[in-house]
Amino acid sequence: EKAGHKHFMAKEIAEQPTVISEALAYYLANDGAGIILPDPGIDFSAFDRITMVACGTAFYACYTAKYWFEQVARIPVEIDVASEFRYREPPVSANTLAIFVSQSGETADTLAALRYMKGKAKTILSVVNVAESSIARESDMALPILAGVEVGVASTKAFSCQLTVLALLALEAACARGEMSADTLATRLSELRTLPGLLTRALDLDETLNAVSNELSEAKDVLFLGRGMMFPLALEGALKLKEISYIHAEGYASGELKHGPIALIDSHTPVIVFAPHDALFDKTVSNMQEVMARGGKVLLVSDKKGLEVAREGVWQTVQMPEVPDLFAPILYAIPAQLIAYHTAVAKGTDVDQPRNLAKSVTVE
Ligand code: F6R
Repeated sequence: EKAGHKHFMAKEIAEQPTVISEALAYYLANDGAGIILPDPGIDFSAFDRITMVACGTAFYACYTAKYWFEQVARIPVEIDVASEFRYREPPVSANTLAIFVSQSGETADTLAALRYMKGKAKTILSVVNVAESSIARESDMALPILAGVEVGVASTKAFSCQLTVLALLALEAACARGEMSADTLATRLSELRTLPGLLTRALDLDETLNAVSNELSEAKDVLFLGRGMMFPLALEGALKLKEISYIHAEGYASGELKHGPIALIDSHTPVIVFAPHDALFDKTVSNMQEVMARGGKVLLVSDKKGLEVAREGVWQTVQMPEVPDLFAPILYAIPAQLIAYHTAVAKGTDVDQPRNLAKSVTVE
């Protein structure tokens, strides 16, 4: 049942190229040039804002999608964790698209937030793994992420499949709102189709990440840094590490470092930096150098171009394949997950069933 892997989590990490290909095949037209949503589709030009609500890892998928929707479709996106949203009872403008993301489709707080939005938002869309779930049933439209059964308590393939579906929605929104041409859409879709191959190459870094993680397992605190779309991934990396290895970890937007967390830096606190060579790379590198100037040990996850200019003084490097900027979060999820996995294995924790956690949180 674990298909030769030691843990379900390892199996589910390894399945990502396959499940993402399947999700793409489901949502892409045969000619590859368009996105197909279930009838009656979603008219993104009918909304003036999007509100996205979820918990945990699914919330970080929403956080990433906020960058996508705002950047490519120029539509404002509000995000919140469901436990805050439901009691905050925020005012909802009539032309809101509400999106709820949940692997299980049964998370109590997310379901309560969805019920709050009924009759207030124009349309309620859910992005779920379990198609028959309560959240799917109570939505106007439910989009499956097609990750297959996820057994490990720590969400891995559901996260990357959520990201894949949300990326497609952002592209669809961009076209509907006149922000993206059919040609650019075709380019972006062909970029998306390269992802399974890139993910397979990232999975080949397993041994490298295993070696690094042995050392990380000695740490008491770990910081994760990223900018732009790598910021939500830093949050996700920290969540993954703390939930299965029980090492205290925090994710920060790298520009926030000097507003407090840099006080934590010393030679015992590893700092993991996700920084593909994109438009924000130089900014992130300068934050990383501030960390190193204070004796911090940096693990830099970047690509060939990035490492060529920024490897000096870095404790460990991980060289990722190059990836189209927009879709980097989906690829960089792999090292985030593998670092957490191998660190937990090195510590000897119960990786698939970490203490105090349940796979589906059906009580608030
Ligand atoms: C973390 C994790 C949790 C879930 C959260 C939401 O690895 O698995 O943070 O993401 O409990 O669960 P769903 O997606 O089922 O609503």
